[in-house]
Order: sequence, then C-alpha cells, then structure tokens
Amino acid sequence: MSSISVLGEDEVSSFFESSPPLKNMEEIVHKLNGFIQLNSTGGRRIVCVTSGGTTVPLEQRCVRYIDNFSSGNRGAASTENFVKAGYAVIFLFRRGTCQPYCRSLPDDPFLECFQFPDNTNIRVHASHAEAVKMAVMDQQAAVAEARLLKLPFTTIYEYLQMLRLIATAMKDVGPCSMFYLAAAVSDFYVPWKSMVEHKIESGSGPLDIRLAQVPKMLSILRTNWAPKAFCISFKLETDSKILIEKATKALQKYKVHAVVANELSTRKEEVVVVSSSGNVVVRCNSEKPESIVEDNLIRLIVDRHSTYIKEFGT
Ligand code: PMT
Repeated sequence: MSSISVLGEDEVSSFFESSPPLKNMEEIVHKLNGFIQLNSTGGRRIVCVTSGGTTVPLEQRCVRYIDNFSSGNRGAASTENFVKAGYAVIFLFRRGTCQPYCRSLPDDPFLECFQFPDNTNIRVHASHAEAVKMAVMDQQAAVAEARLLKLPFTTIYEYLQMLRLIATAMKDVGPCSMFYLAAAVSDFYVPWKSMVEHKIESGSGPLDIRLAQVPKMLSILRTNWAPKAFCISFKLETDSKILIEKATKALQKYKVHAVVANELSTRKEEVVVVSSSGNVVVRCNSEKPESIVEDNLIRLIVDRHSTYIKEFGT
C-alpha cells in the first residue's frame, strides 16, 4: 500500500478543494503569525487547544445542521491551566461554547451579574463581584501578555481549514509546539457541492441524505502539517467497556503522543491518559472541592511535553 493511500491524502485534498473558503483567512493568518512570532522568539511553548463541537450544514444557506456534542468546558479549563503553566495558547473554539476564565460565572452572566442602581450606572451584583473581577482580570492579562489568541469556528469546513492554517504557521516552533485536540469533530458531512442551496422543503415525506466520511486529519497533522509537534488527541465513548481499547487503537494508528480517553457521563471526574508508557488514570483532588480534572491532566501533559522536548535535544 502506498503512503498516499495510508494517509488518505487524496480524500484530504478533495475535502479542502471542495470546502467553501474561509471568509477572513487573511486576518486569521495575520493574527496567527504575529502571535506565534512573538511567543516563539520569547522562547515560550505554544499549544493549540481545540474546543467545542463542529457542525455539519445540510443547506448552503444553512437553516439546519448536524451537531457534535461538546460544551467546551474541557477546552476552556485546559486553556486556563496551560496559561498558568507558562504556555501561549491558540484557543480554536466553537462559537457560543464555554470560554476560559468564565467557569465561575452564572450561565447568563449579563442578566444575572449586573444591576442598574439608576439609569446611568451599571454595577456588578455583590454576590458575583469576585467571580466577575477574576474572570475579567485573568482574561485581560492573558490577552495583553499575548498568552491567549482566540479563534472561533462553527462548521467542520471552518474548523479543519483553521487547524491546517495553525499547524502550518506553527511548523517552525517544532517540538515546543503542541496540539491538544479536545474538540468533538464530525465524522460525517454533506460535501459542499452536493448540498442544496436553499432551505430543504418539508411536507414531502421522509428526508434521505447521504453523508460522506470526513477524512481523519490526525494522520496528516502528525505526518505533514506539524510532524515535530507534541500531539494529544481525545477519545470519547459512551460505552466504558470499549473506551480503552479504542483509545489504544487510535494511539497506534495515528501515532499521537497520548490519547486522553473519557466516557461521556464521567468525563468531569476522570480521564485515562493512554500512551506507549502505559495508562494513567487522572482524577480531580477529592480533598479540594474546587479541584477539576484538568488541573492534574494538564500537569501530566506538561511533564510529558518537557520530556519530549528534552529527548528532541533542543
Ligand atoms: O466539551 P466538554 O463538554 O467538556 O466535553 C469534552 C469532550 C468529551 C468533548 C472531550 O473531552 C473529547 O473527548 N473530545 C473528543 C471527542 C471526539 O470527537 O472524539 P472522536 O472519537 O470522534 O475523535 C477522536 C479524535 O479524532 C479527536 O481528537 C478528533 O480531533 C480527531 N478527529 C475526529 C474526526 C475527524 N474527522 N478527524 C479527526 O482528526
């Protein structure tokens, strides 16, 4: 079998060729290059954290779409921990999902945090004052120190094009770069050219749609886009009996450095880091009520990344 068919390069090329182009590509490239240059010349490690689920539009002027579940909590909490560990983070996130530094805020912060003592003033409600202060200060500090670059996506088309742009832009950062792929990425899609333009009409019985397979980008990312980067992928299952087996297969198949395996209902309490050096169960600290699984997970990943950089000899 040739390397082309192993990697599915033909499928990948045709996916990108048939994708609607990114609307603001030049602006994204400009932001990315500035952020990467600033941080890599300062010797800082850079991680791309992907977060939230991708959508698959069913119509070009999209009214209906298929979605992949992810609240974005994992990606947001991991981003905070990477920044704390000294990394610069490119946060590639689904619009409308959980954002870094916002976990302590109520669900609807604008409506619940603020009050109007009179017509000209706006005030933070005393019960939320500390949470709002910390969220605003931490986020502003991360952005001002060029530690956080946020790039939003919605569709699978946007996500994969942006991931490729980021990987290409980070190529020269080599082993000091990392991909932490926590986004829930569509496995099936409607190719743009075979998609209807206008809203699908209802009233004529059941709807038949043929979905094509989205090429797995992990192989291409590892082999072509960013071969020297440290790469962490995720495996989500709802059946715990097959989780570790699936994660182990993904580790071998895509040659990533570790796979974070999680089961949907327990994902906030426990994950298993599957790698060639064995499987490590990571949980939150039971003695600390405010502790989250990402505190220990990112500590472990950062340690593994340090070892990788040393082995690389930089
Ligand atoms: O956001 P939360 O609510 O906090 O939940 C976090 C999470 C459960 C979403 C997260 O921890 C997680 O597991 N994310 C990955 C979910 C997923 O899509 O798993 P998968 O088995 O379908 O994909 C496995 C890997 O293949 C992923 O790293 C993905 O980036 C990659 N992939 C997937 C599809 C595709 N076409 N190409 C890919 O490269």
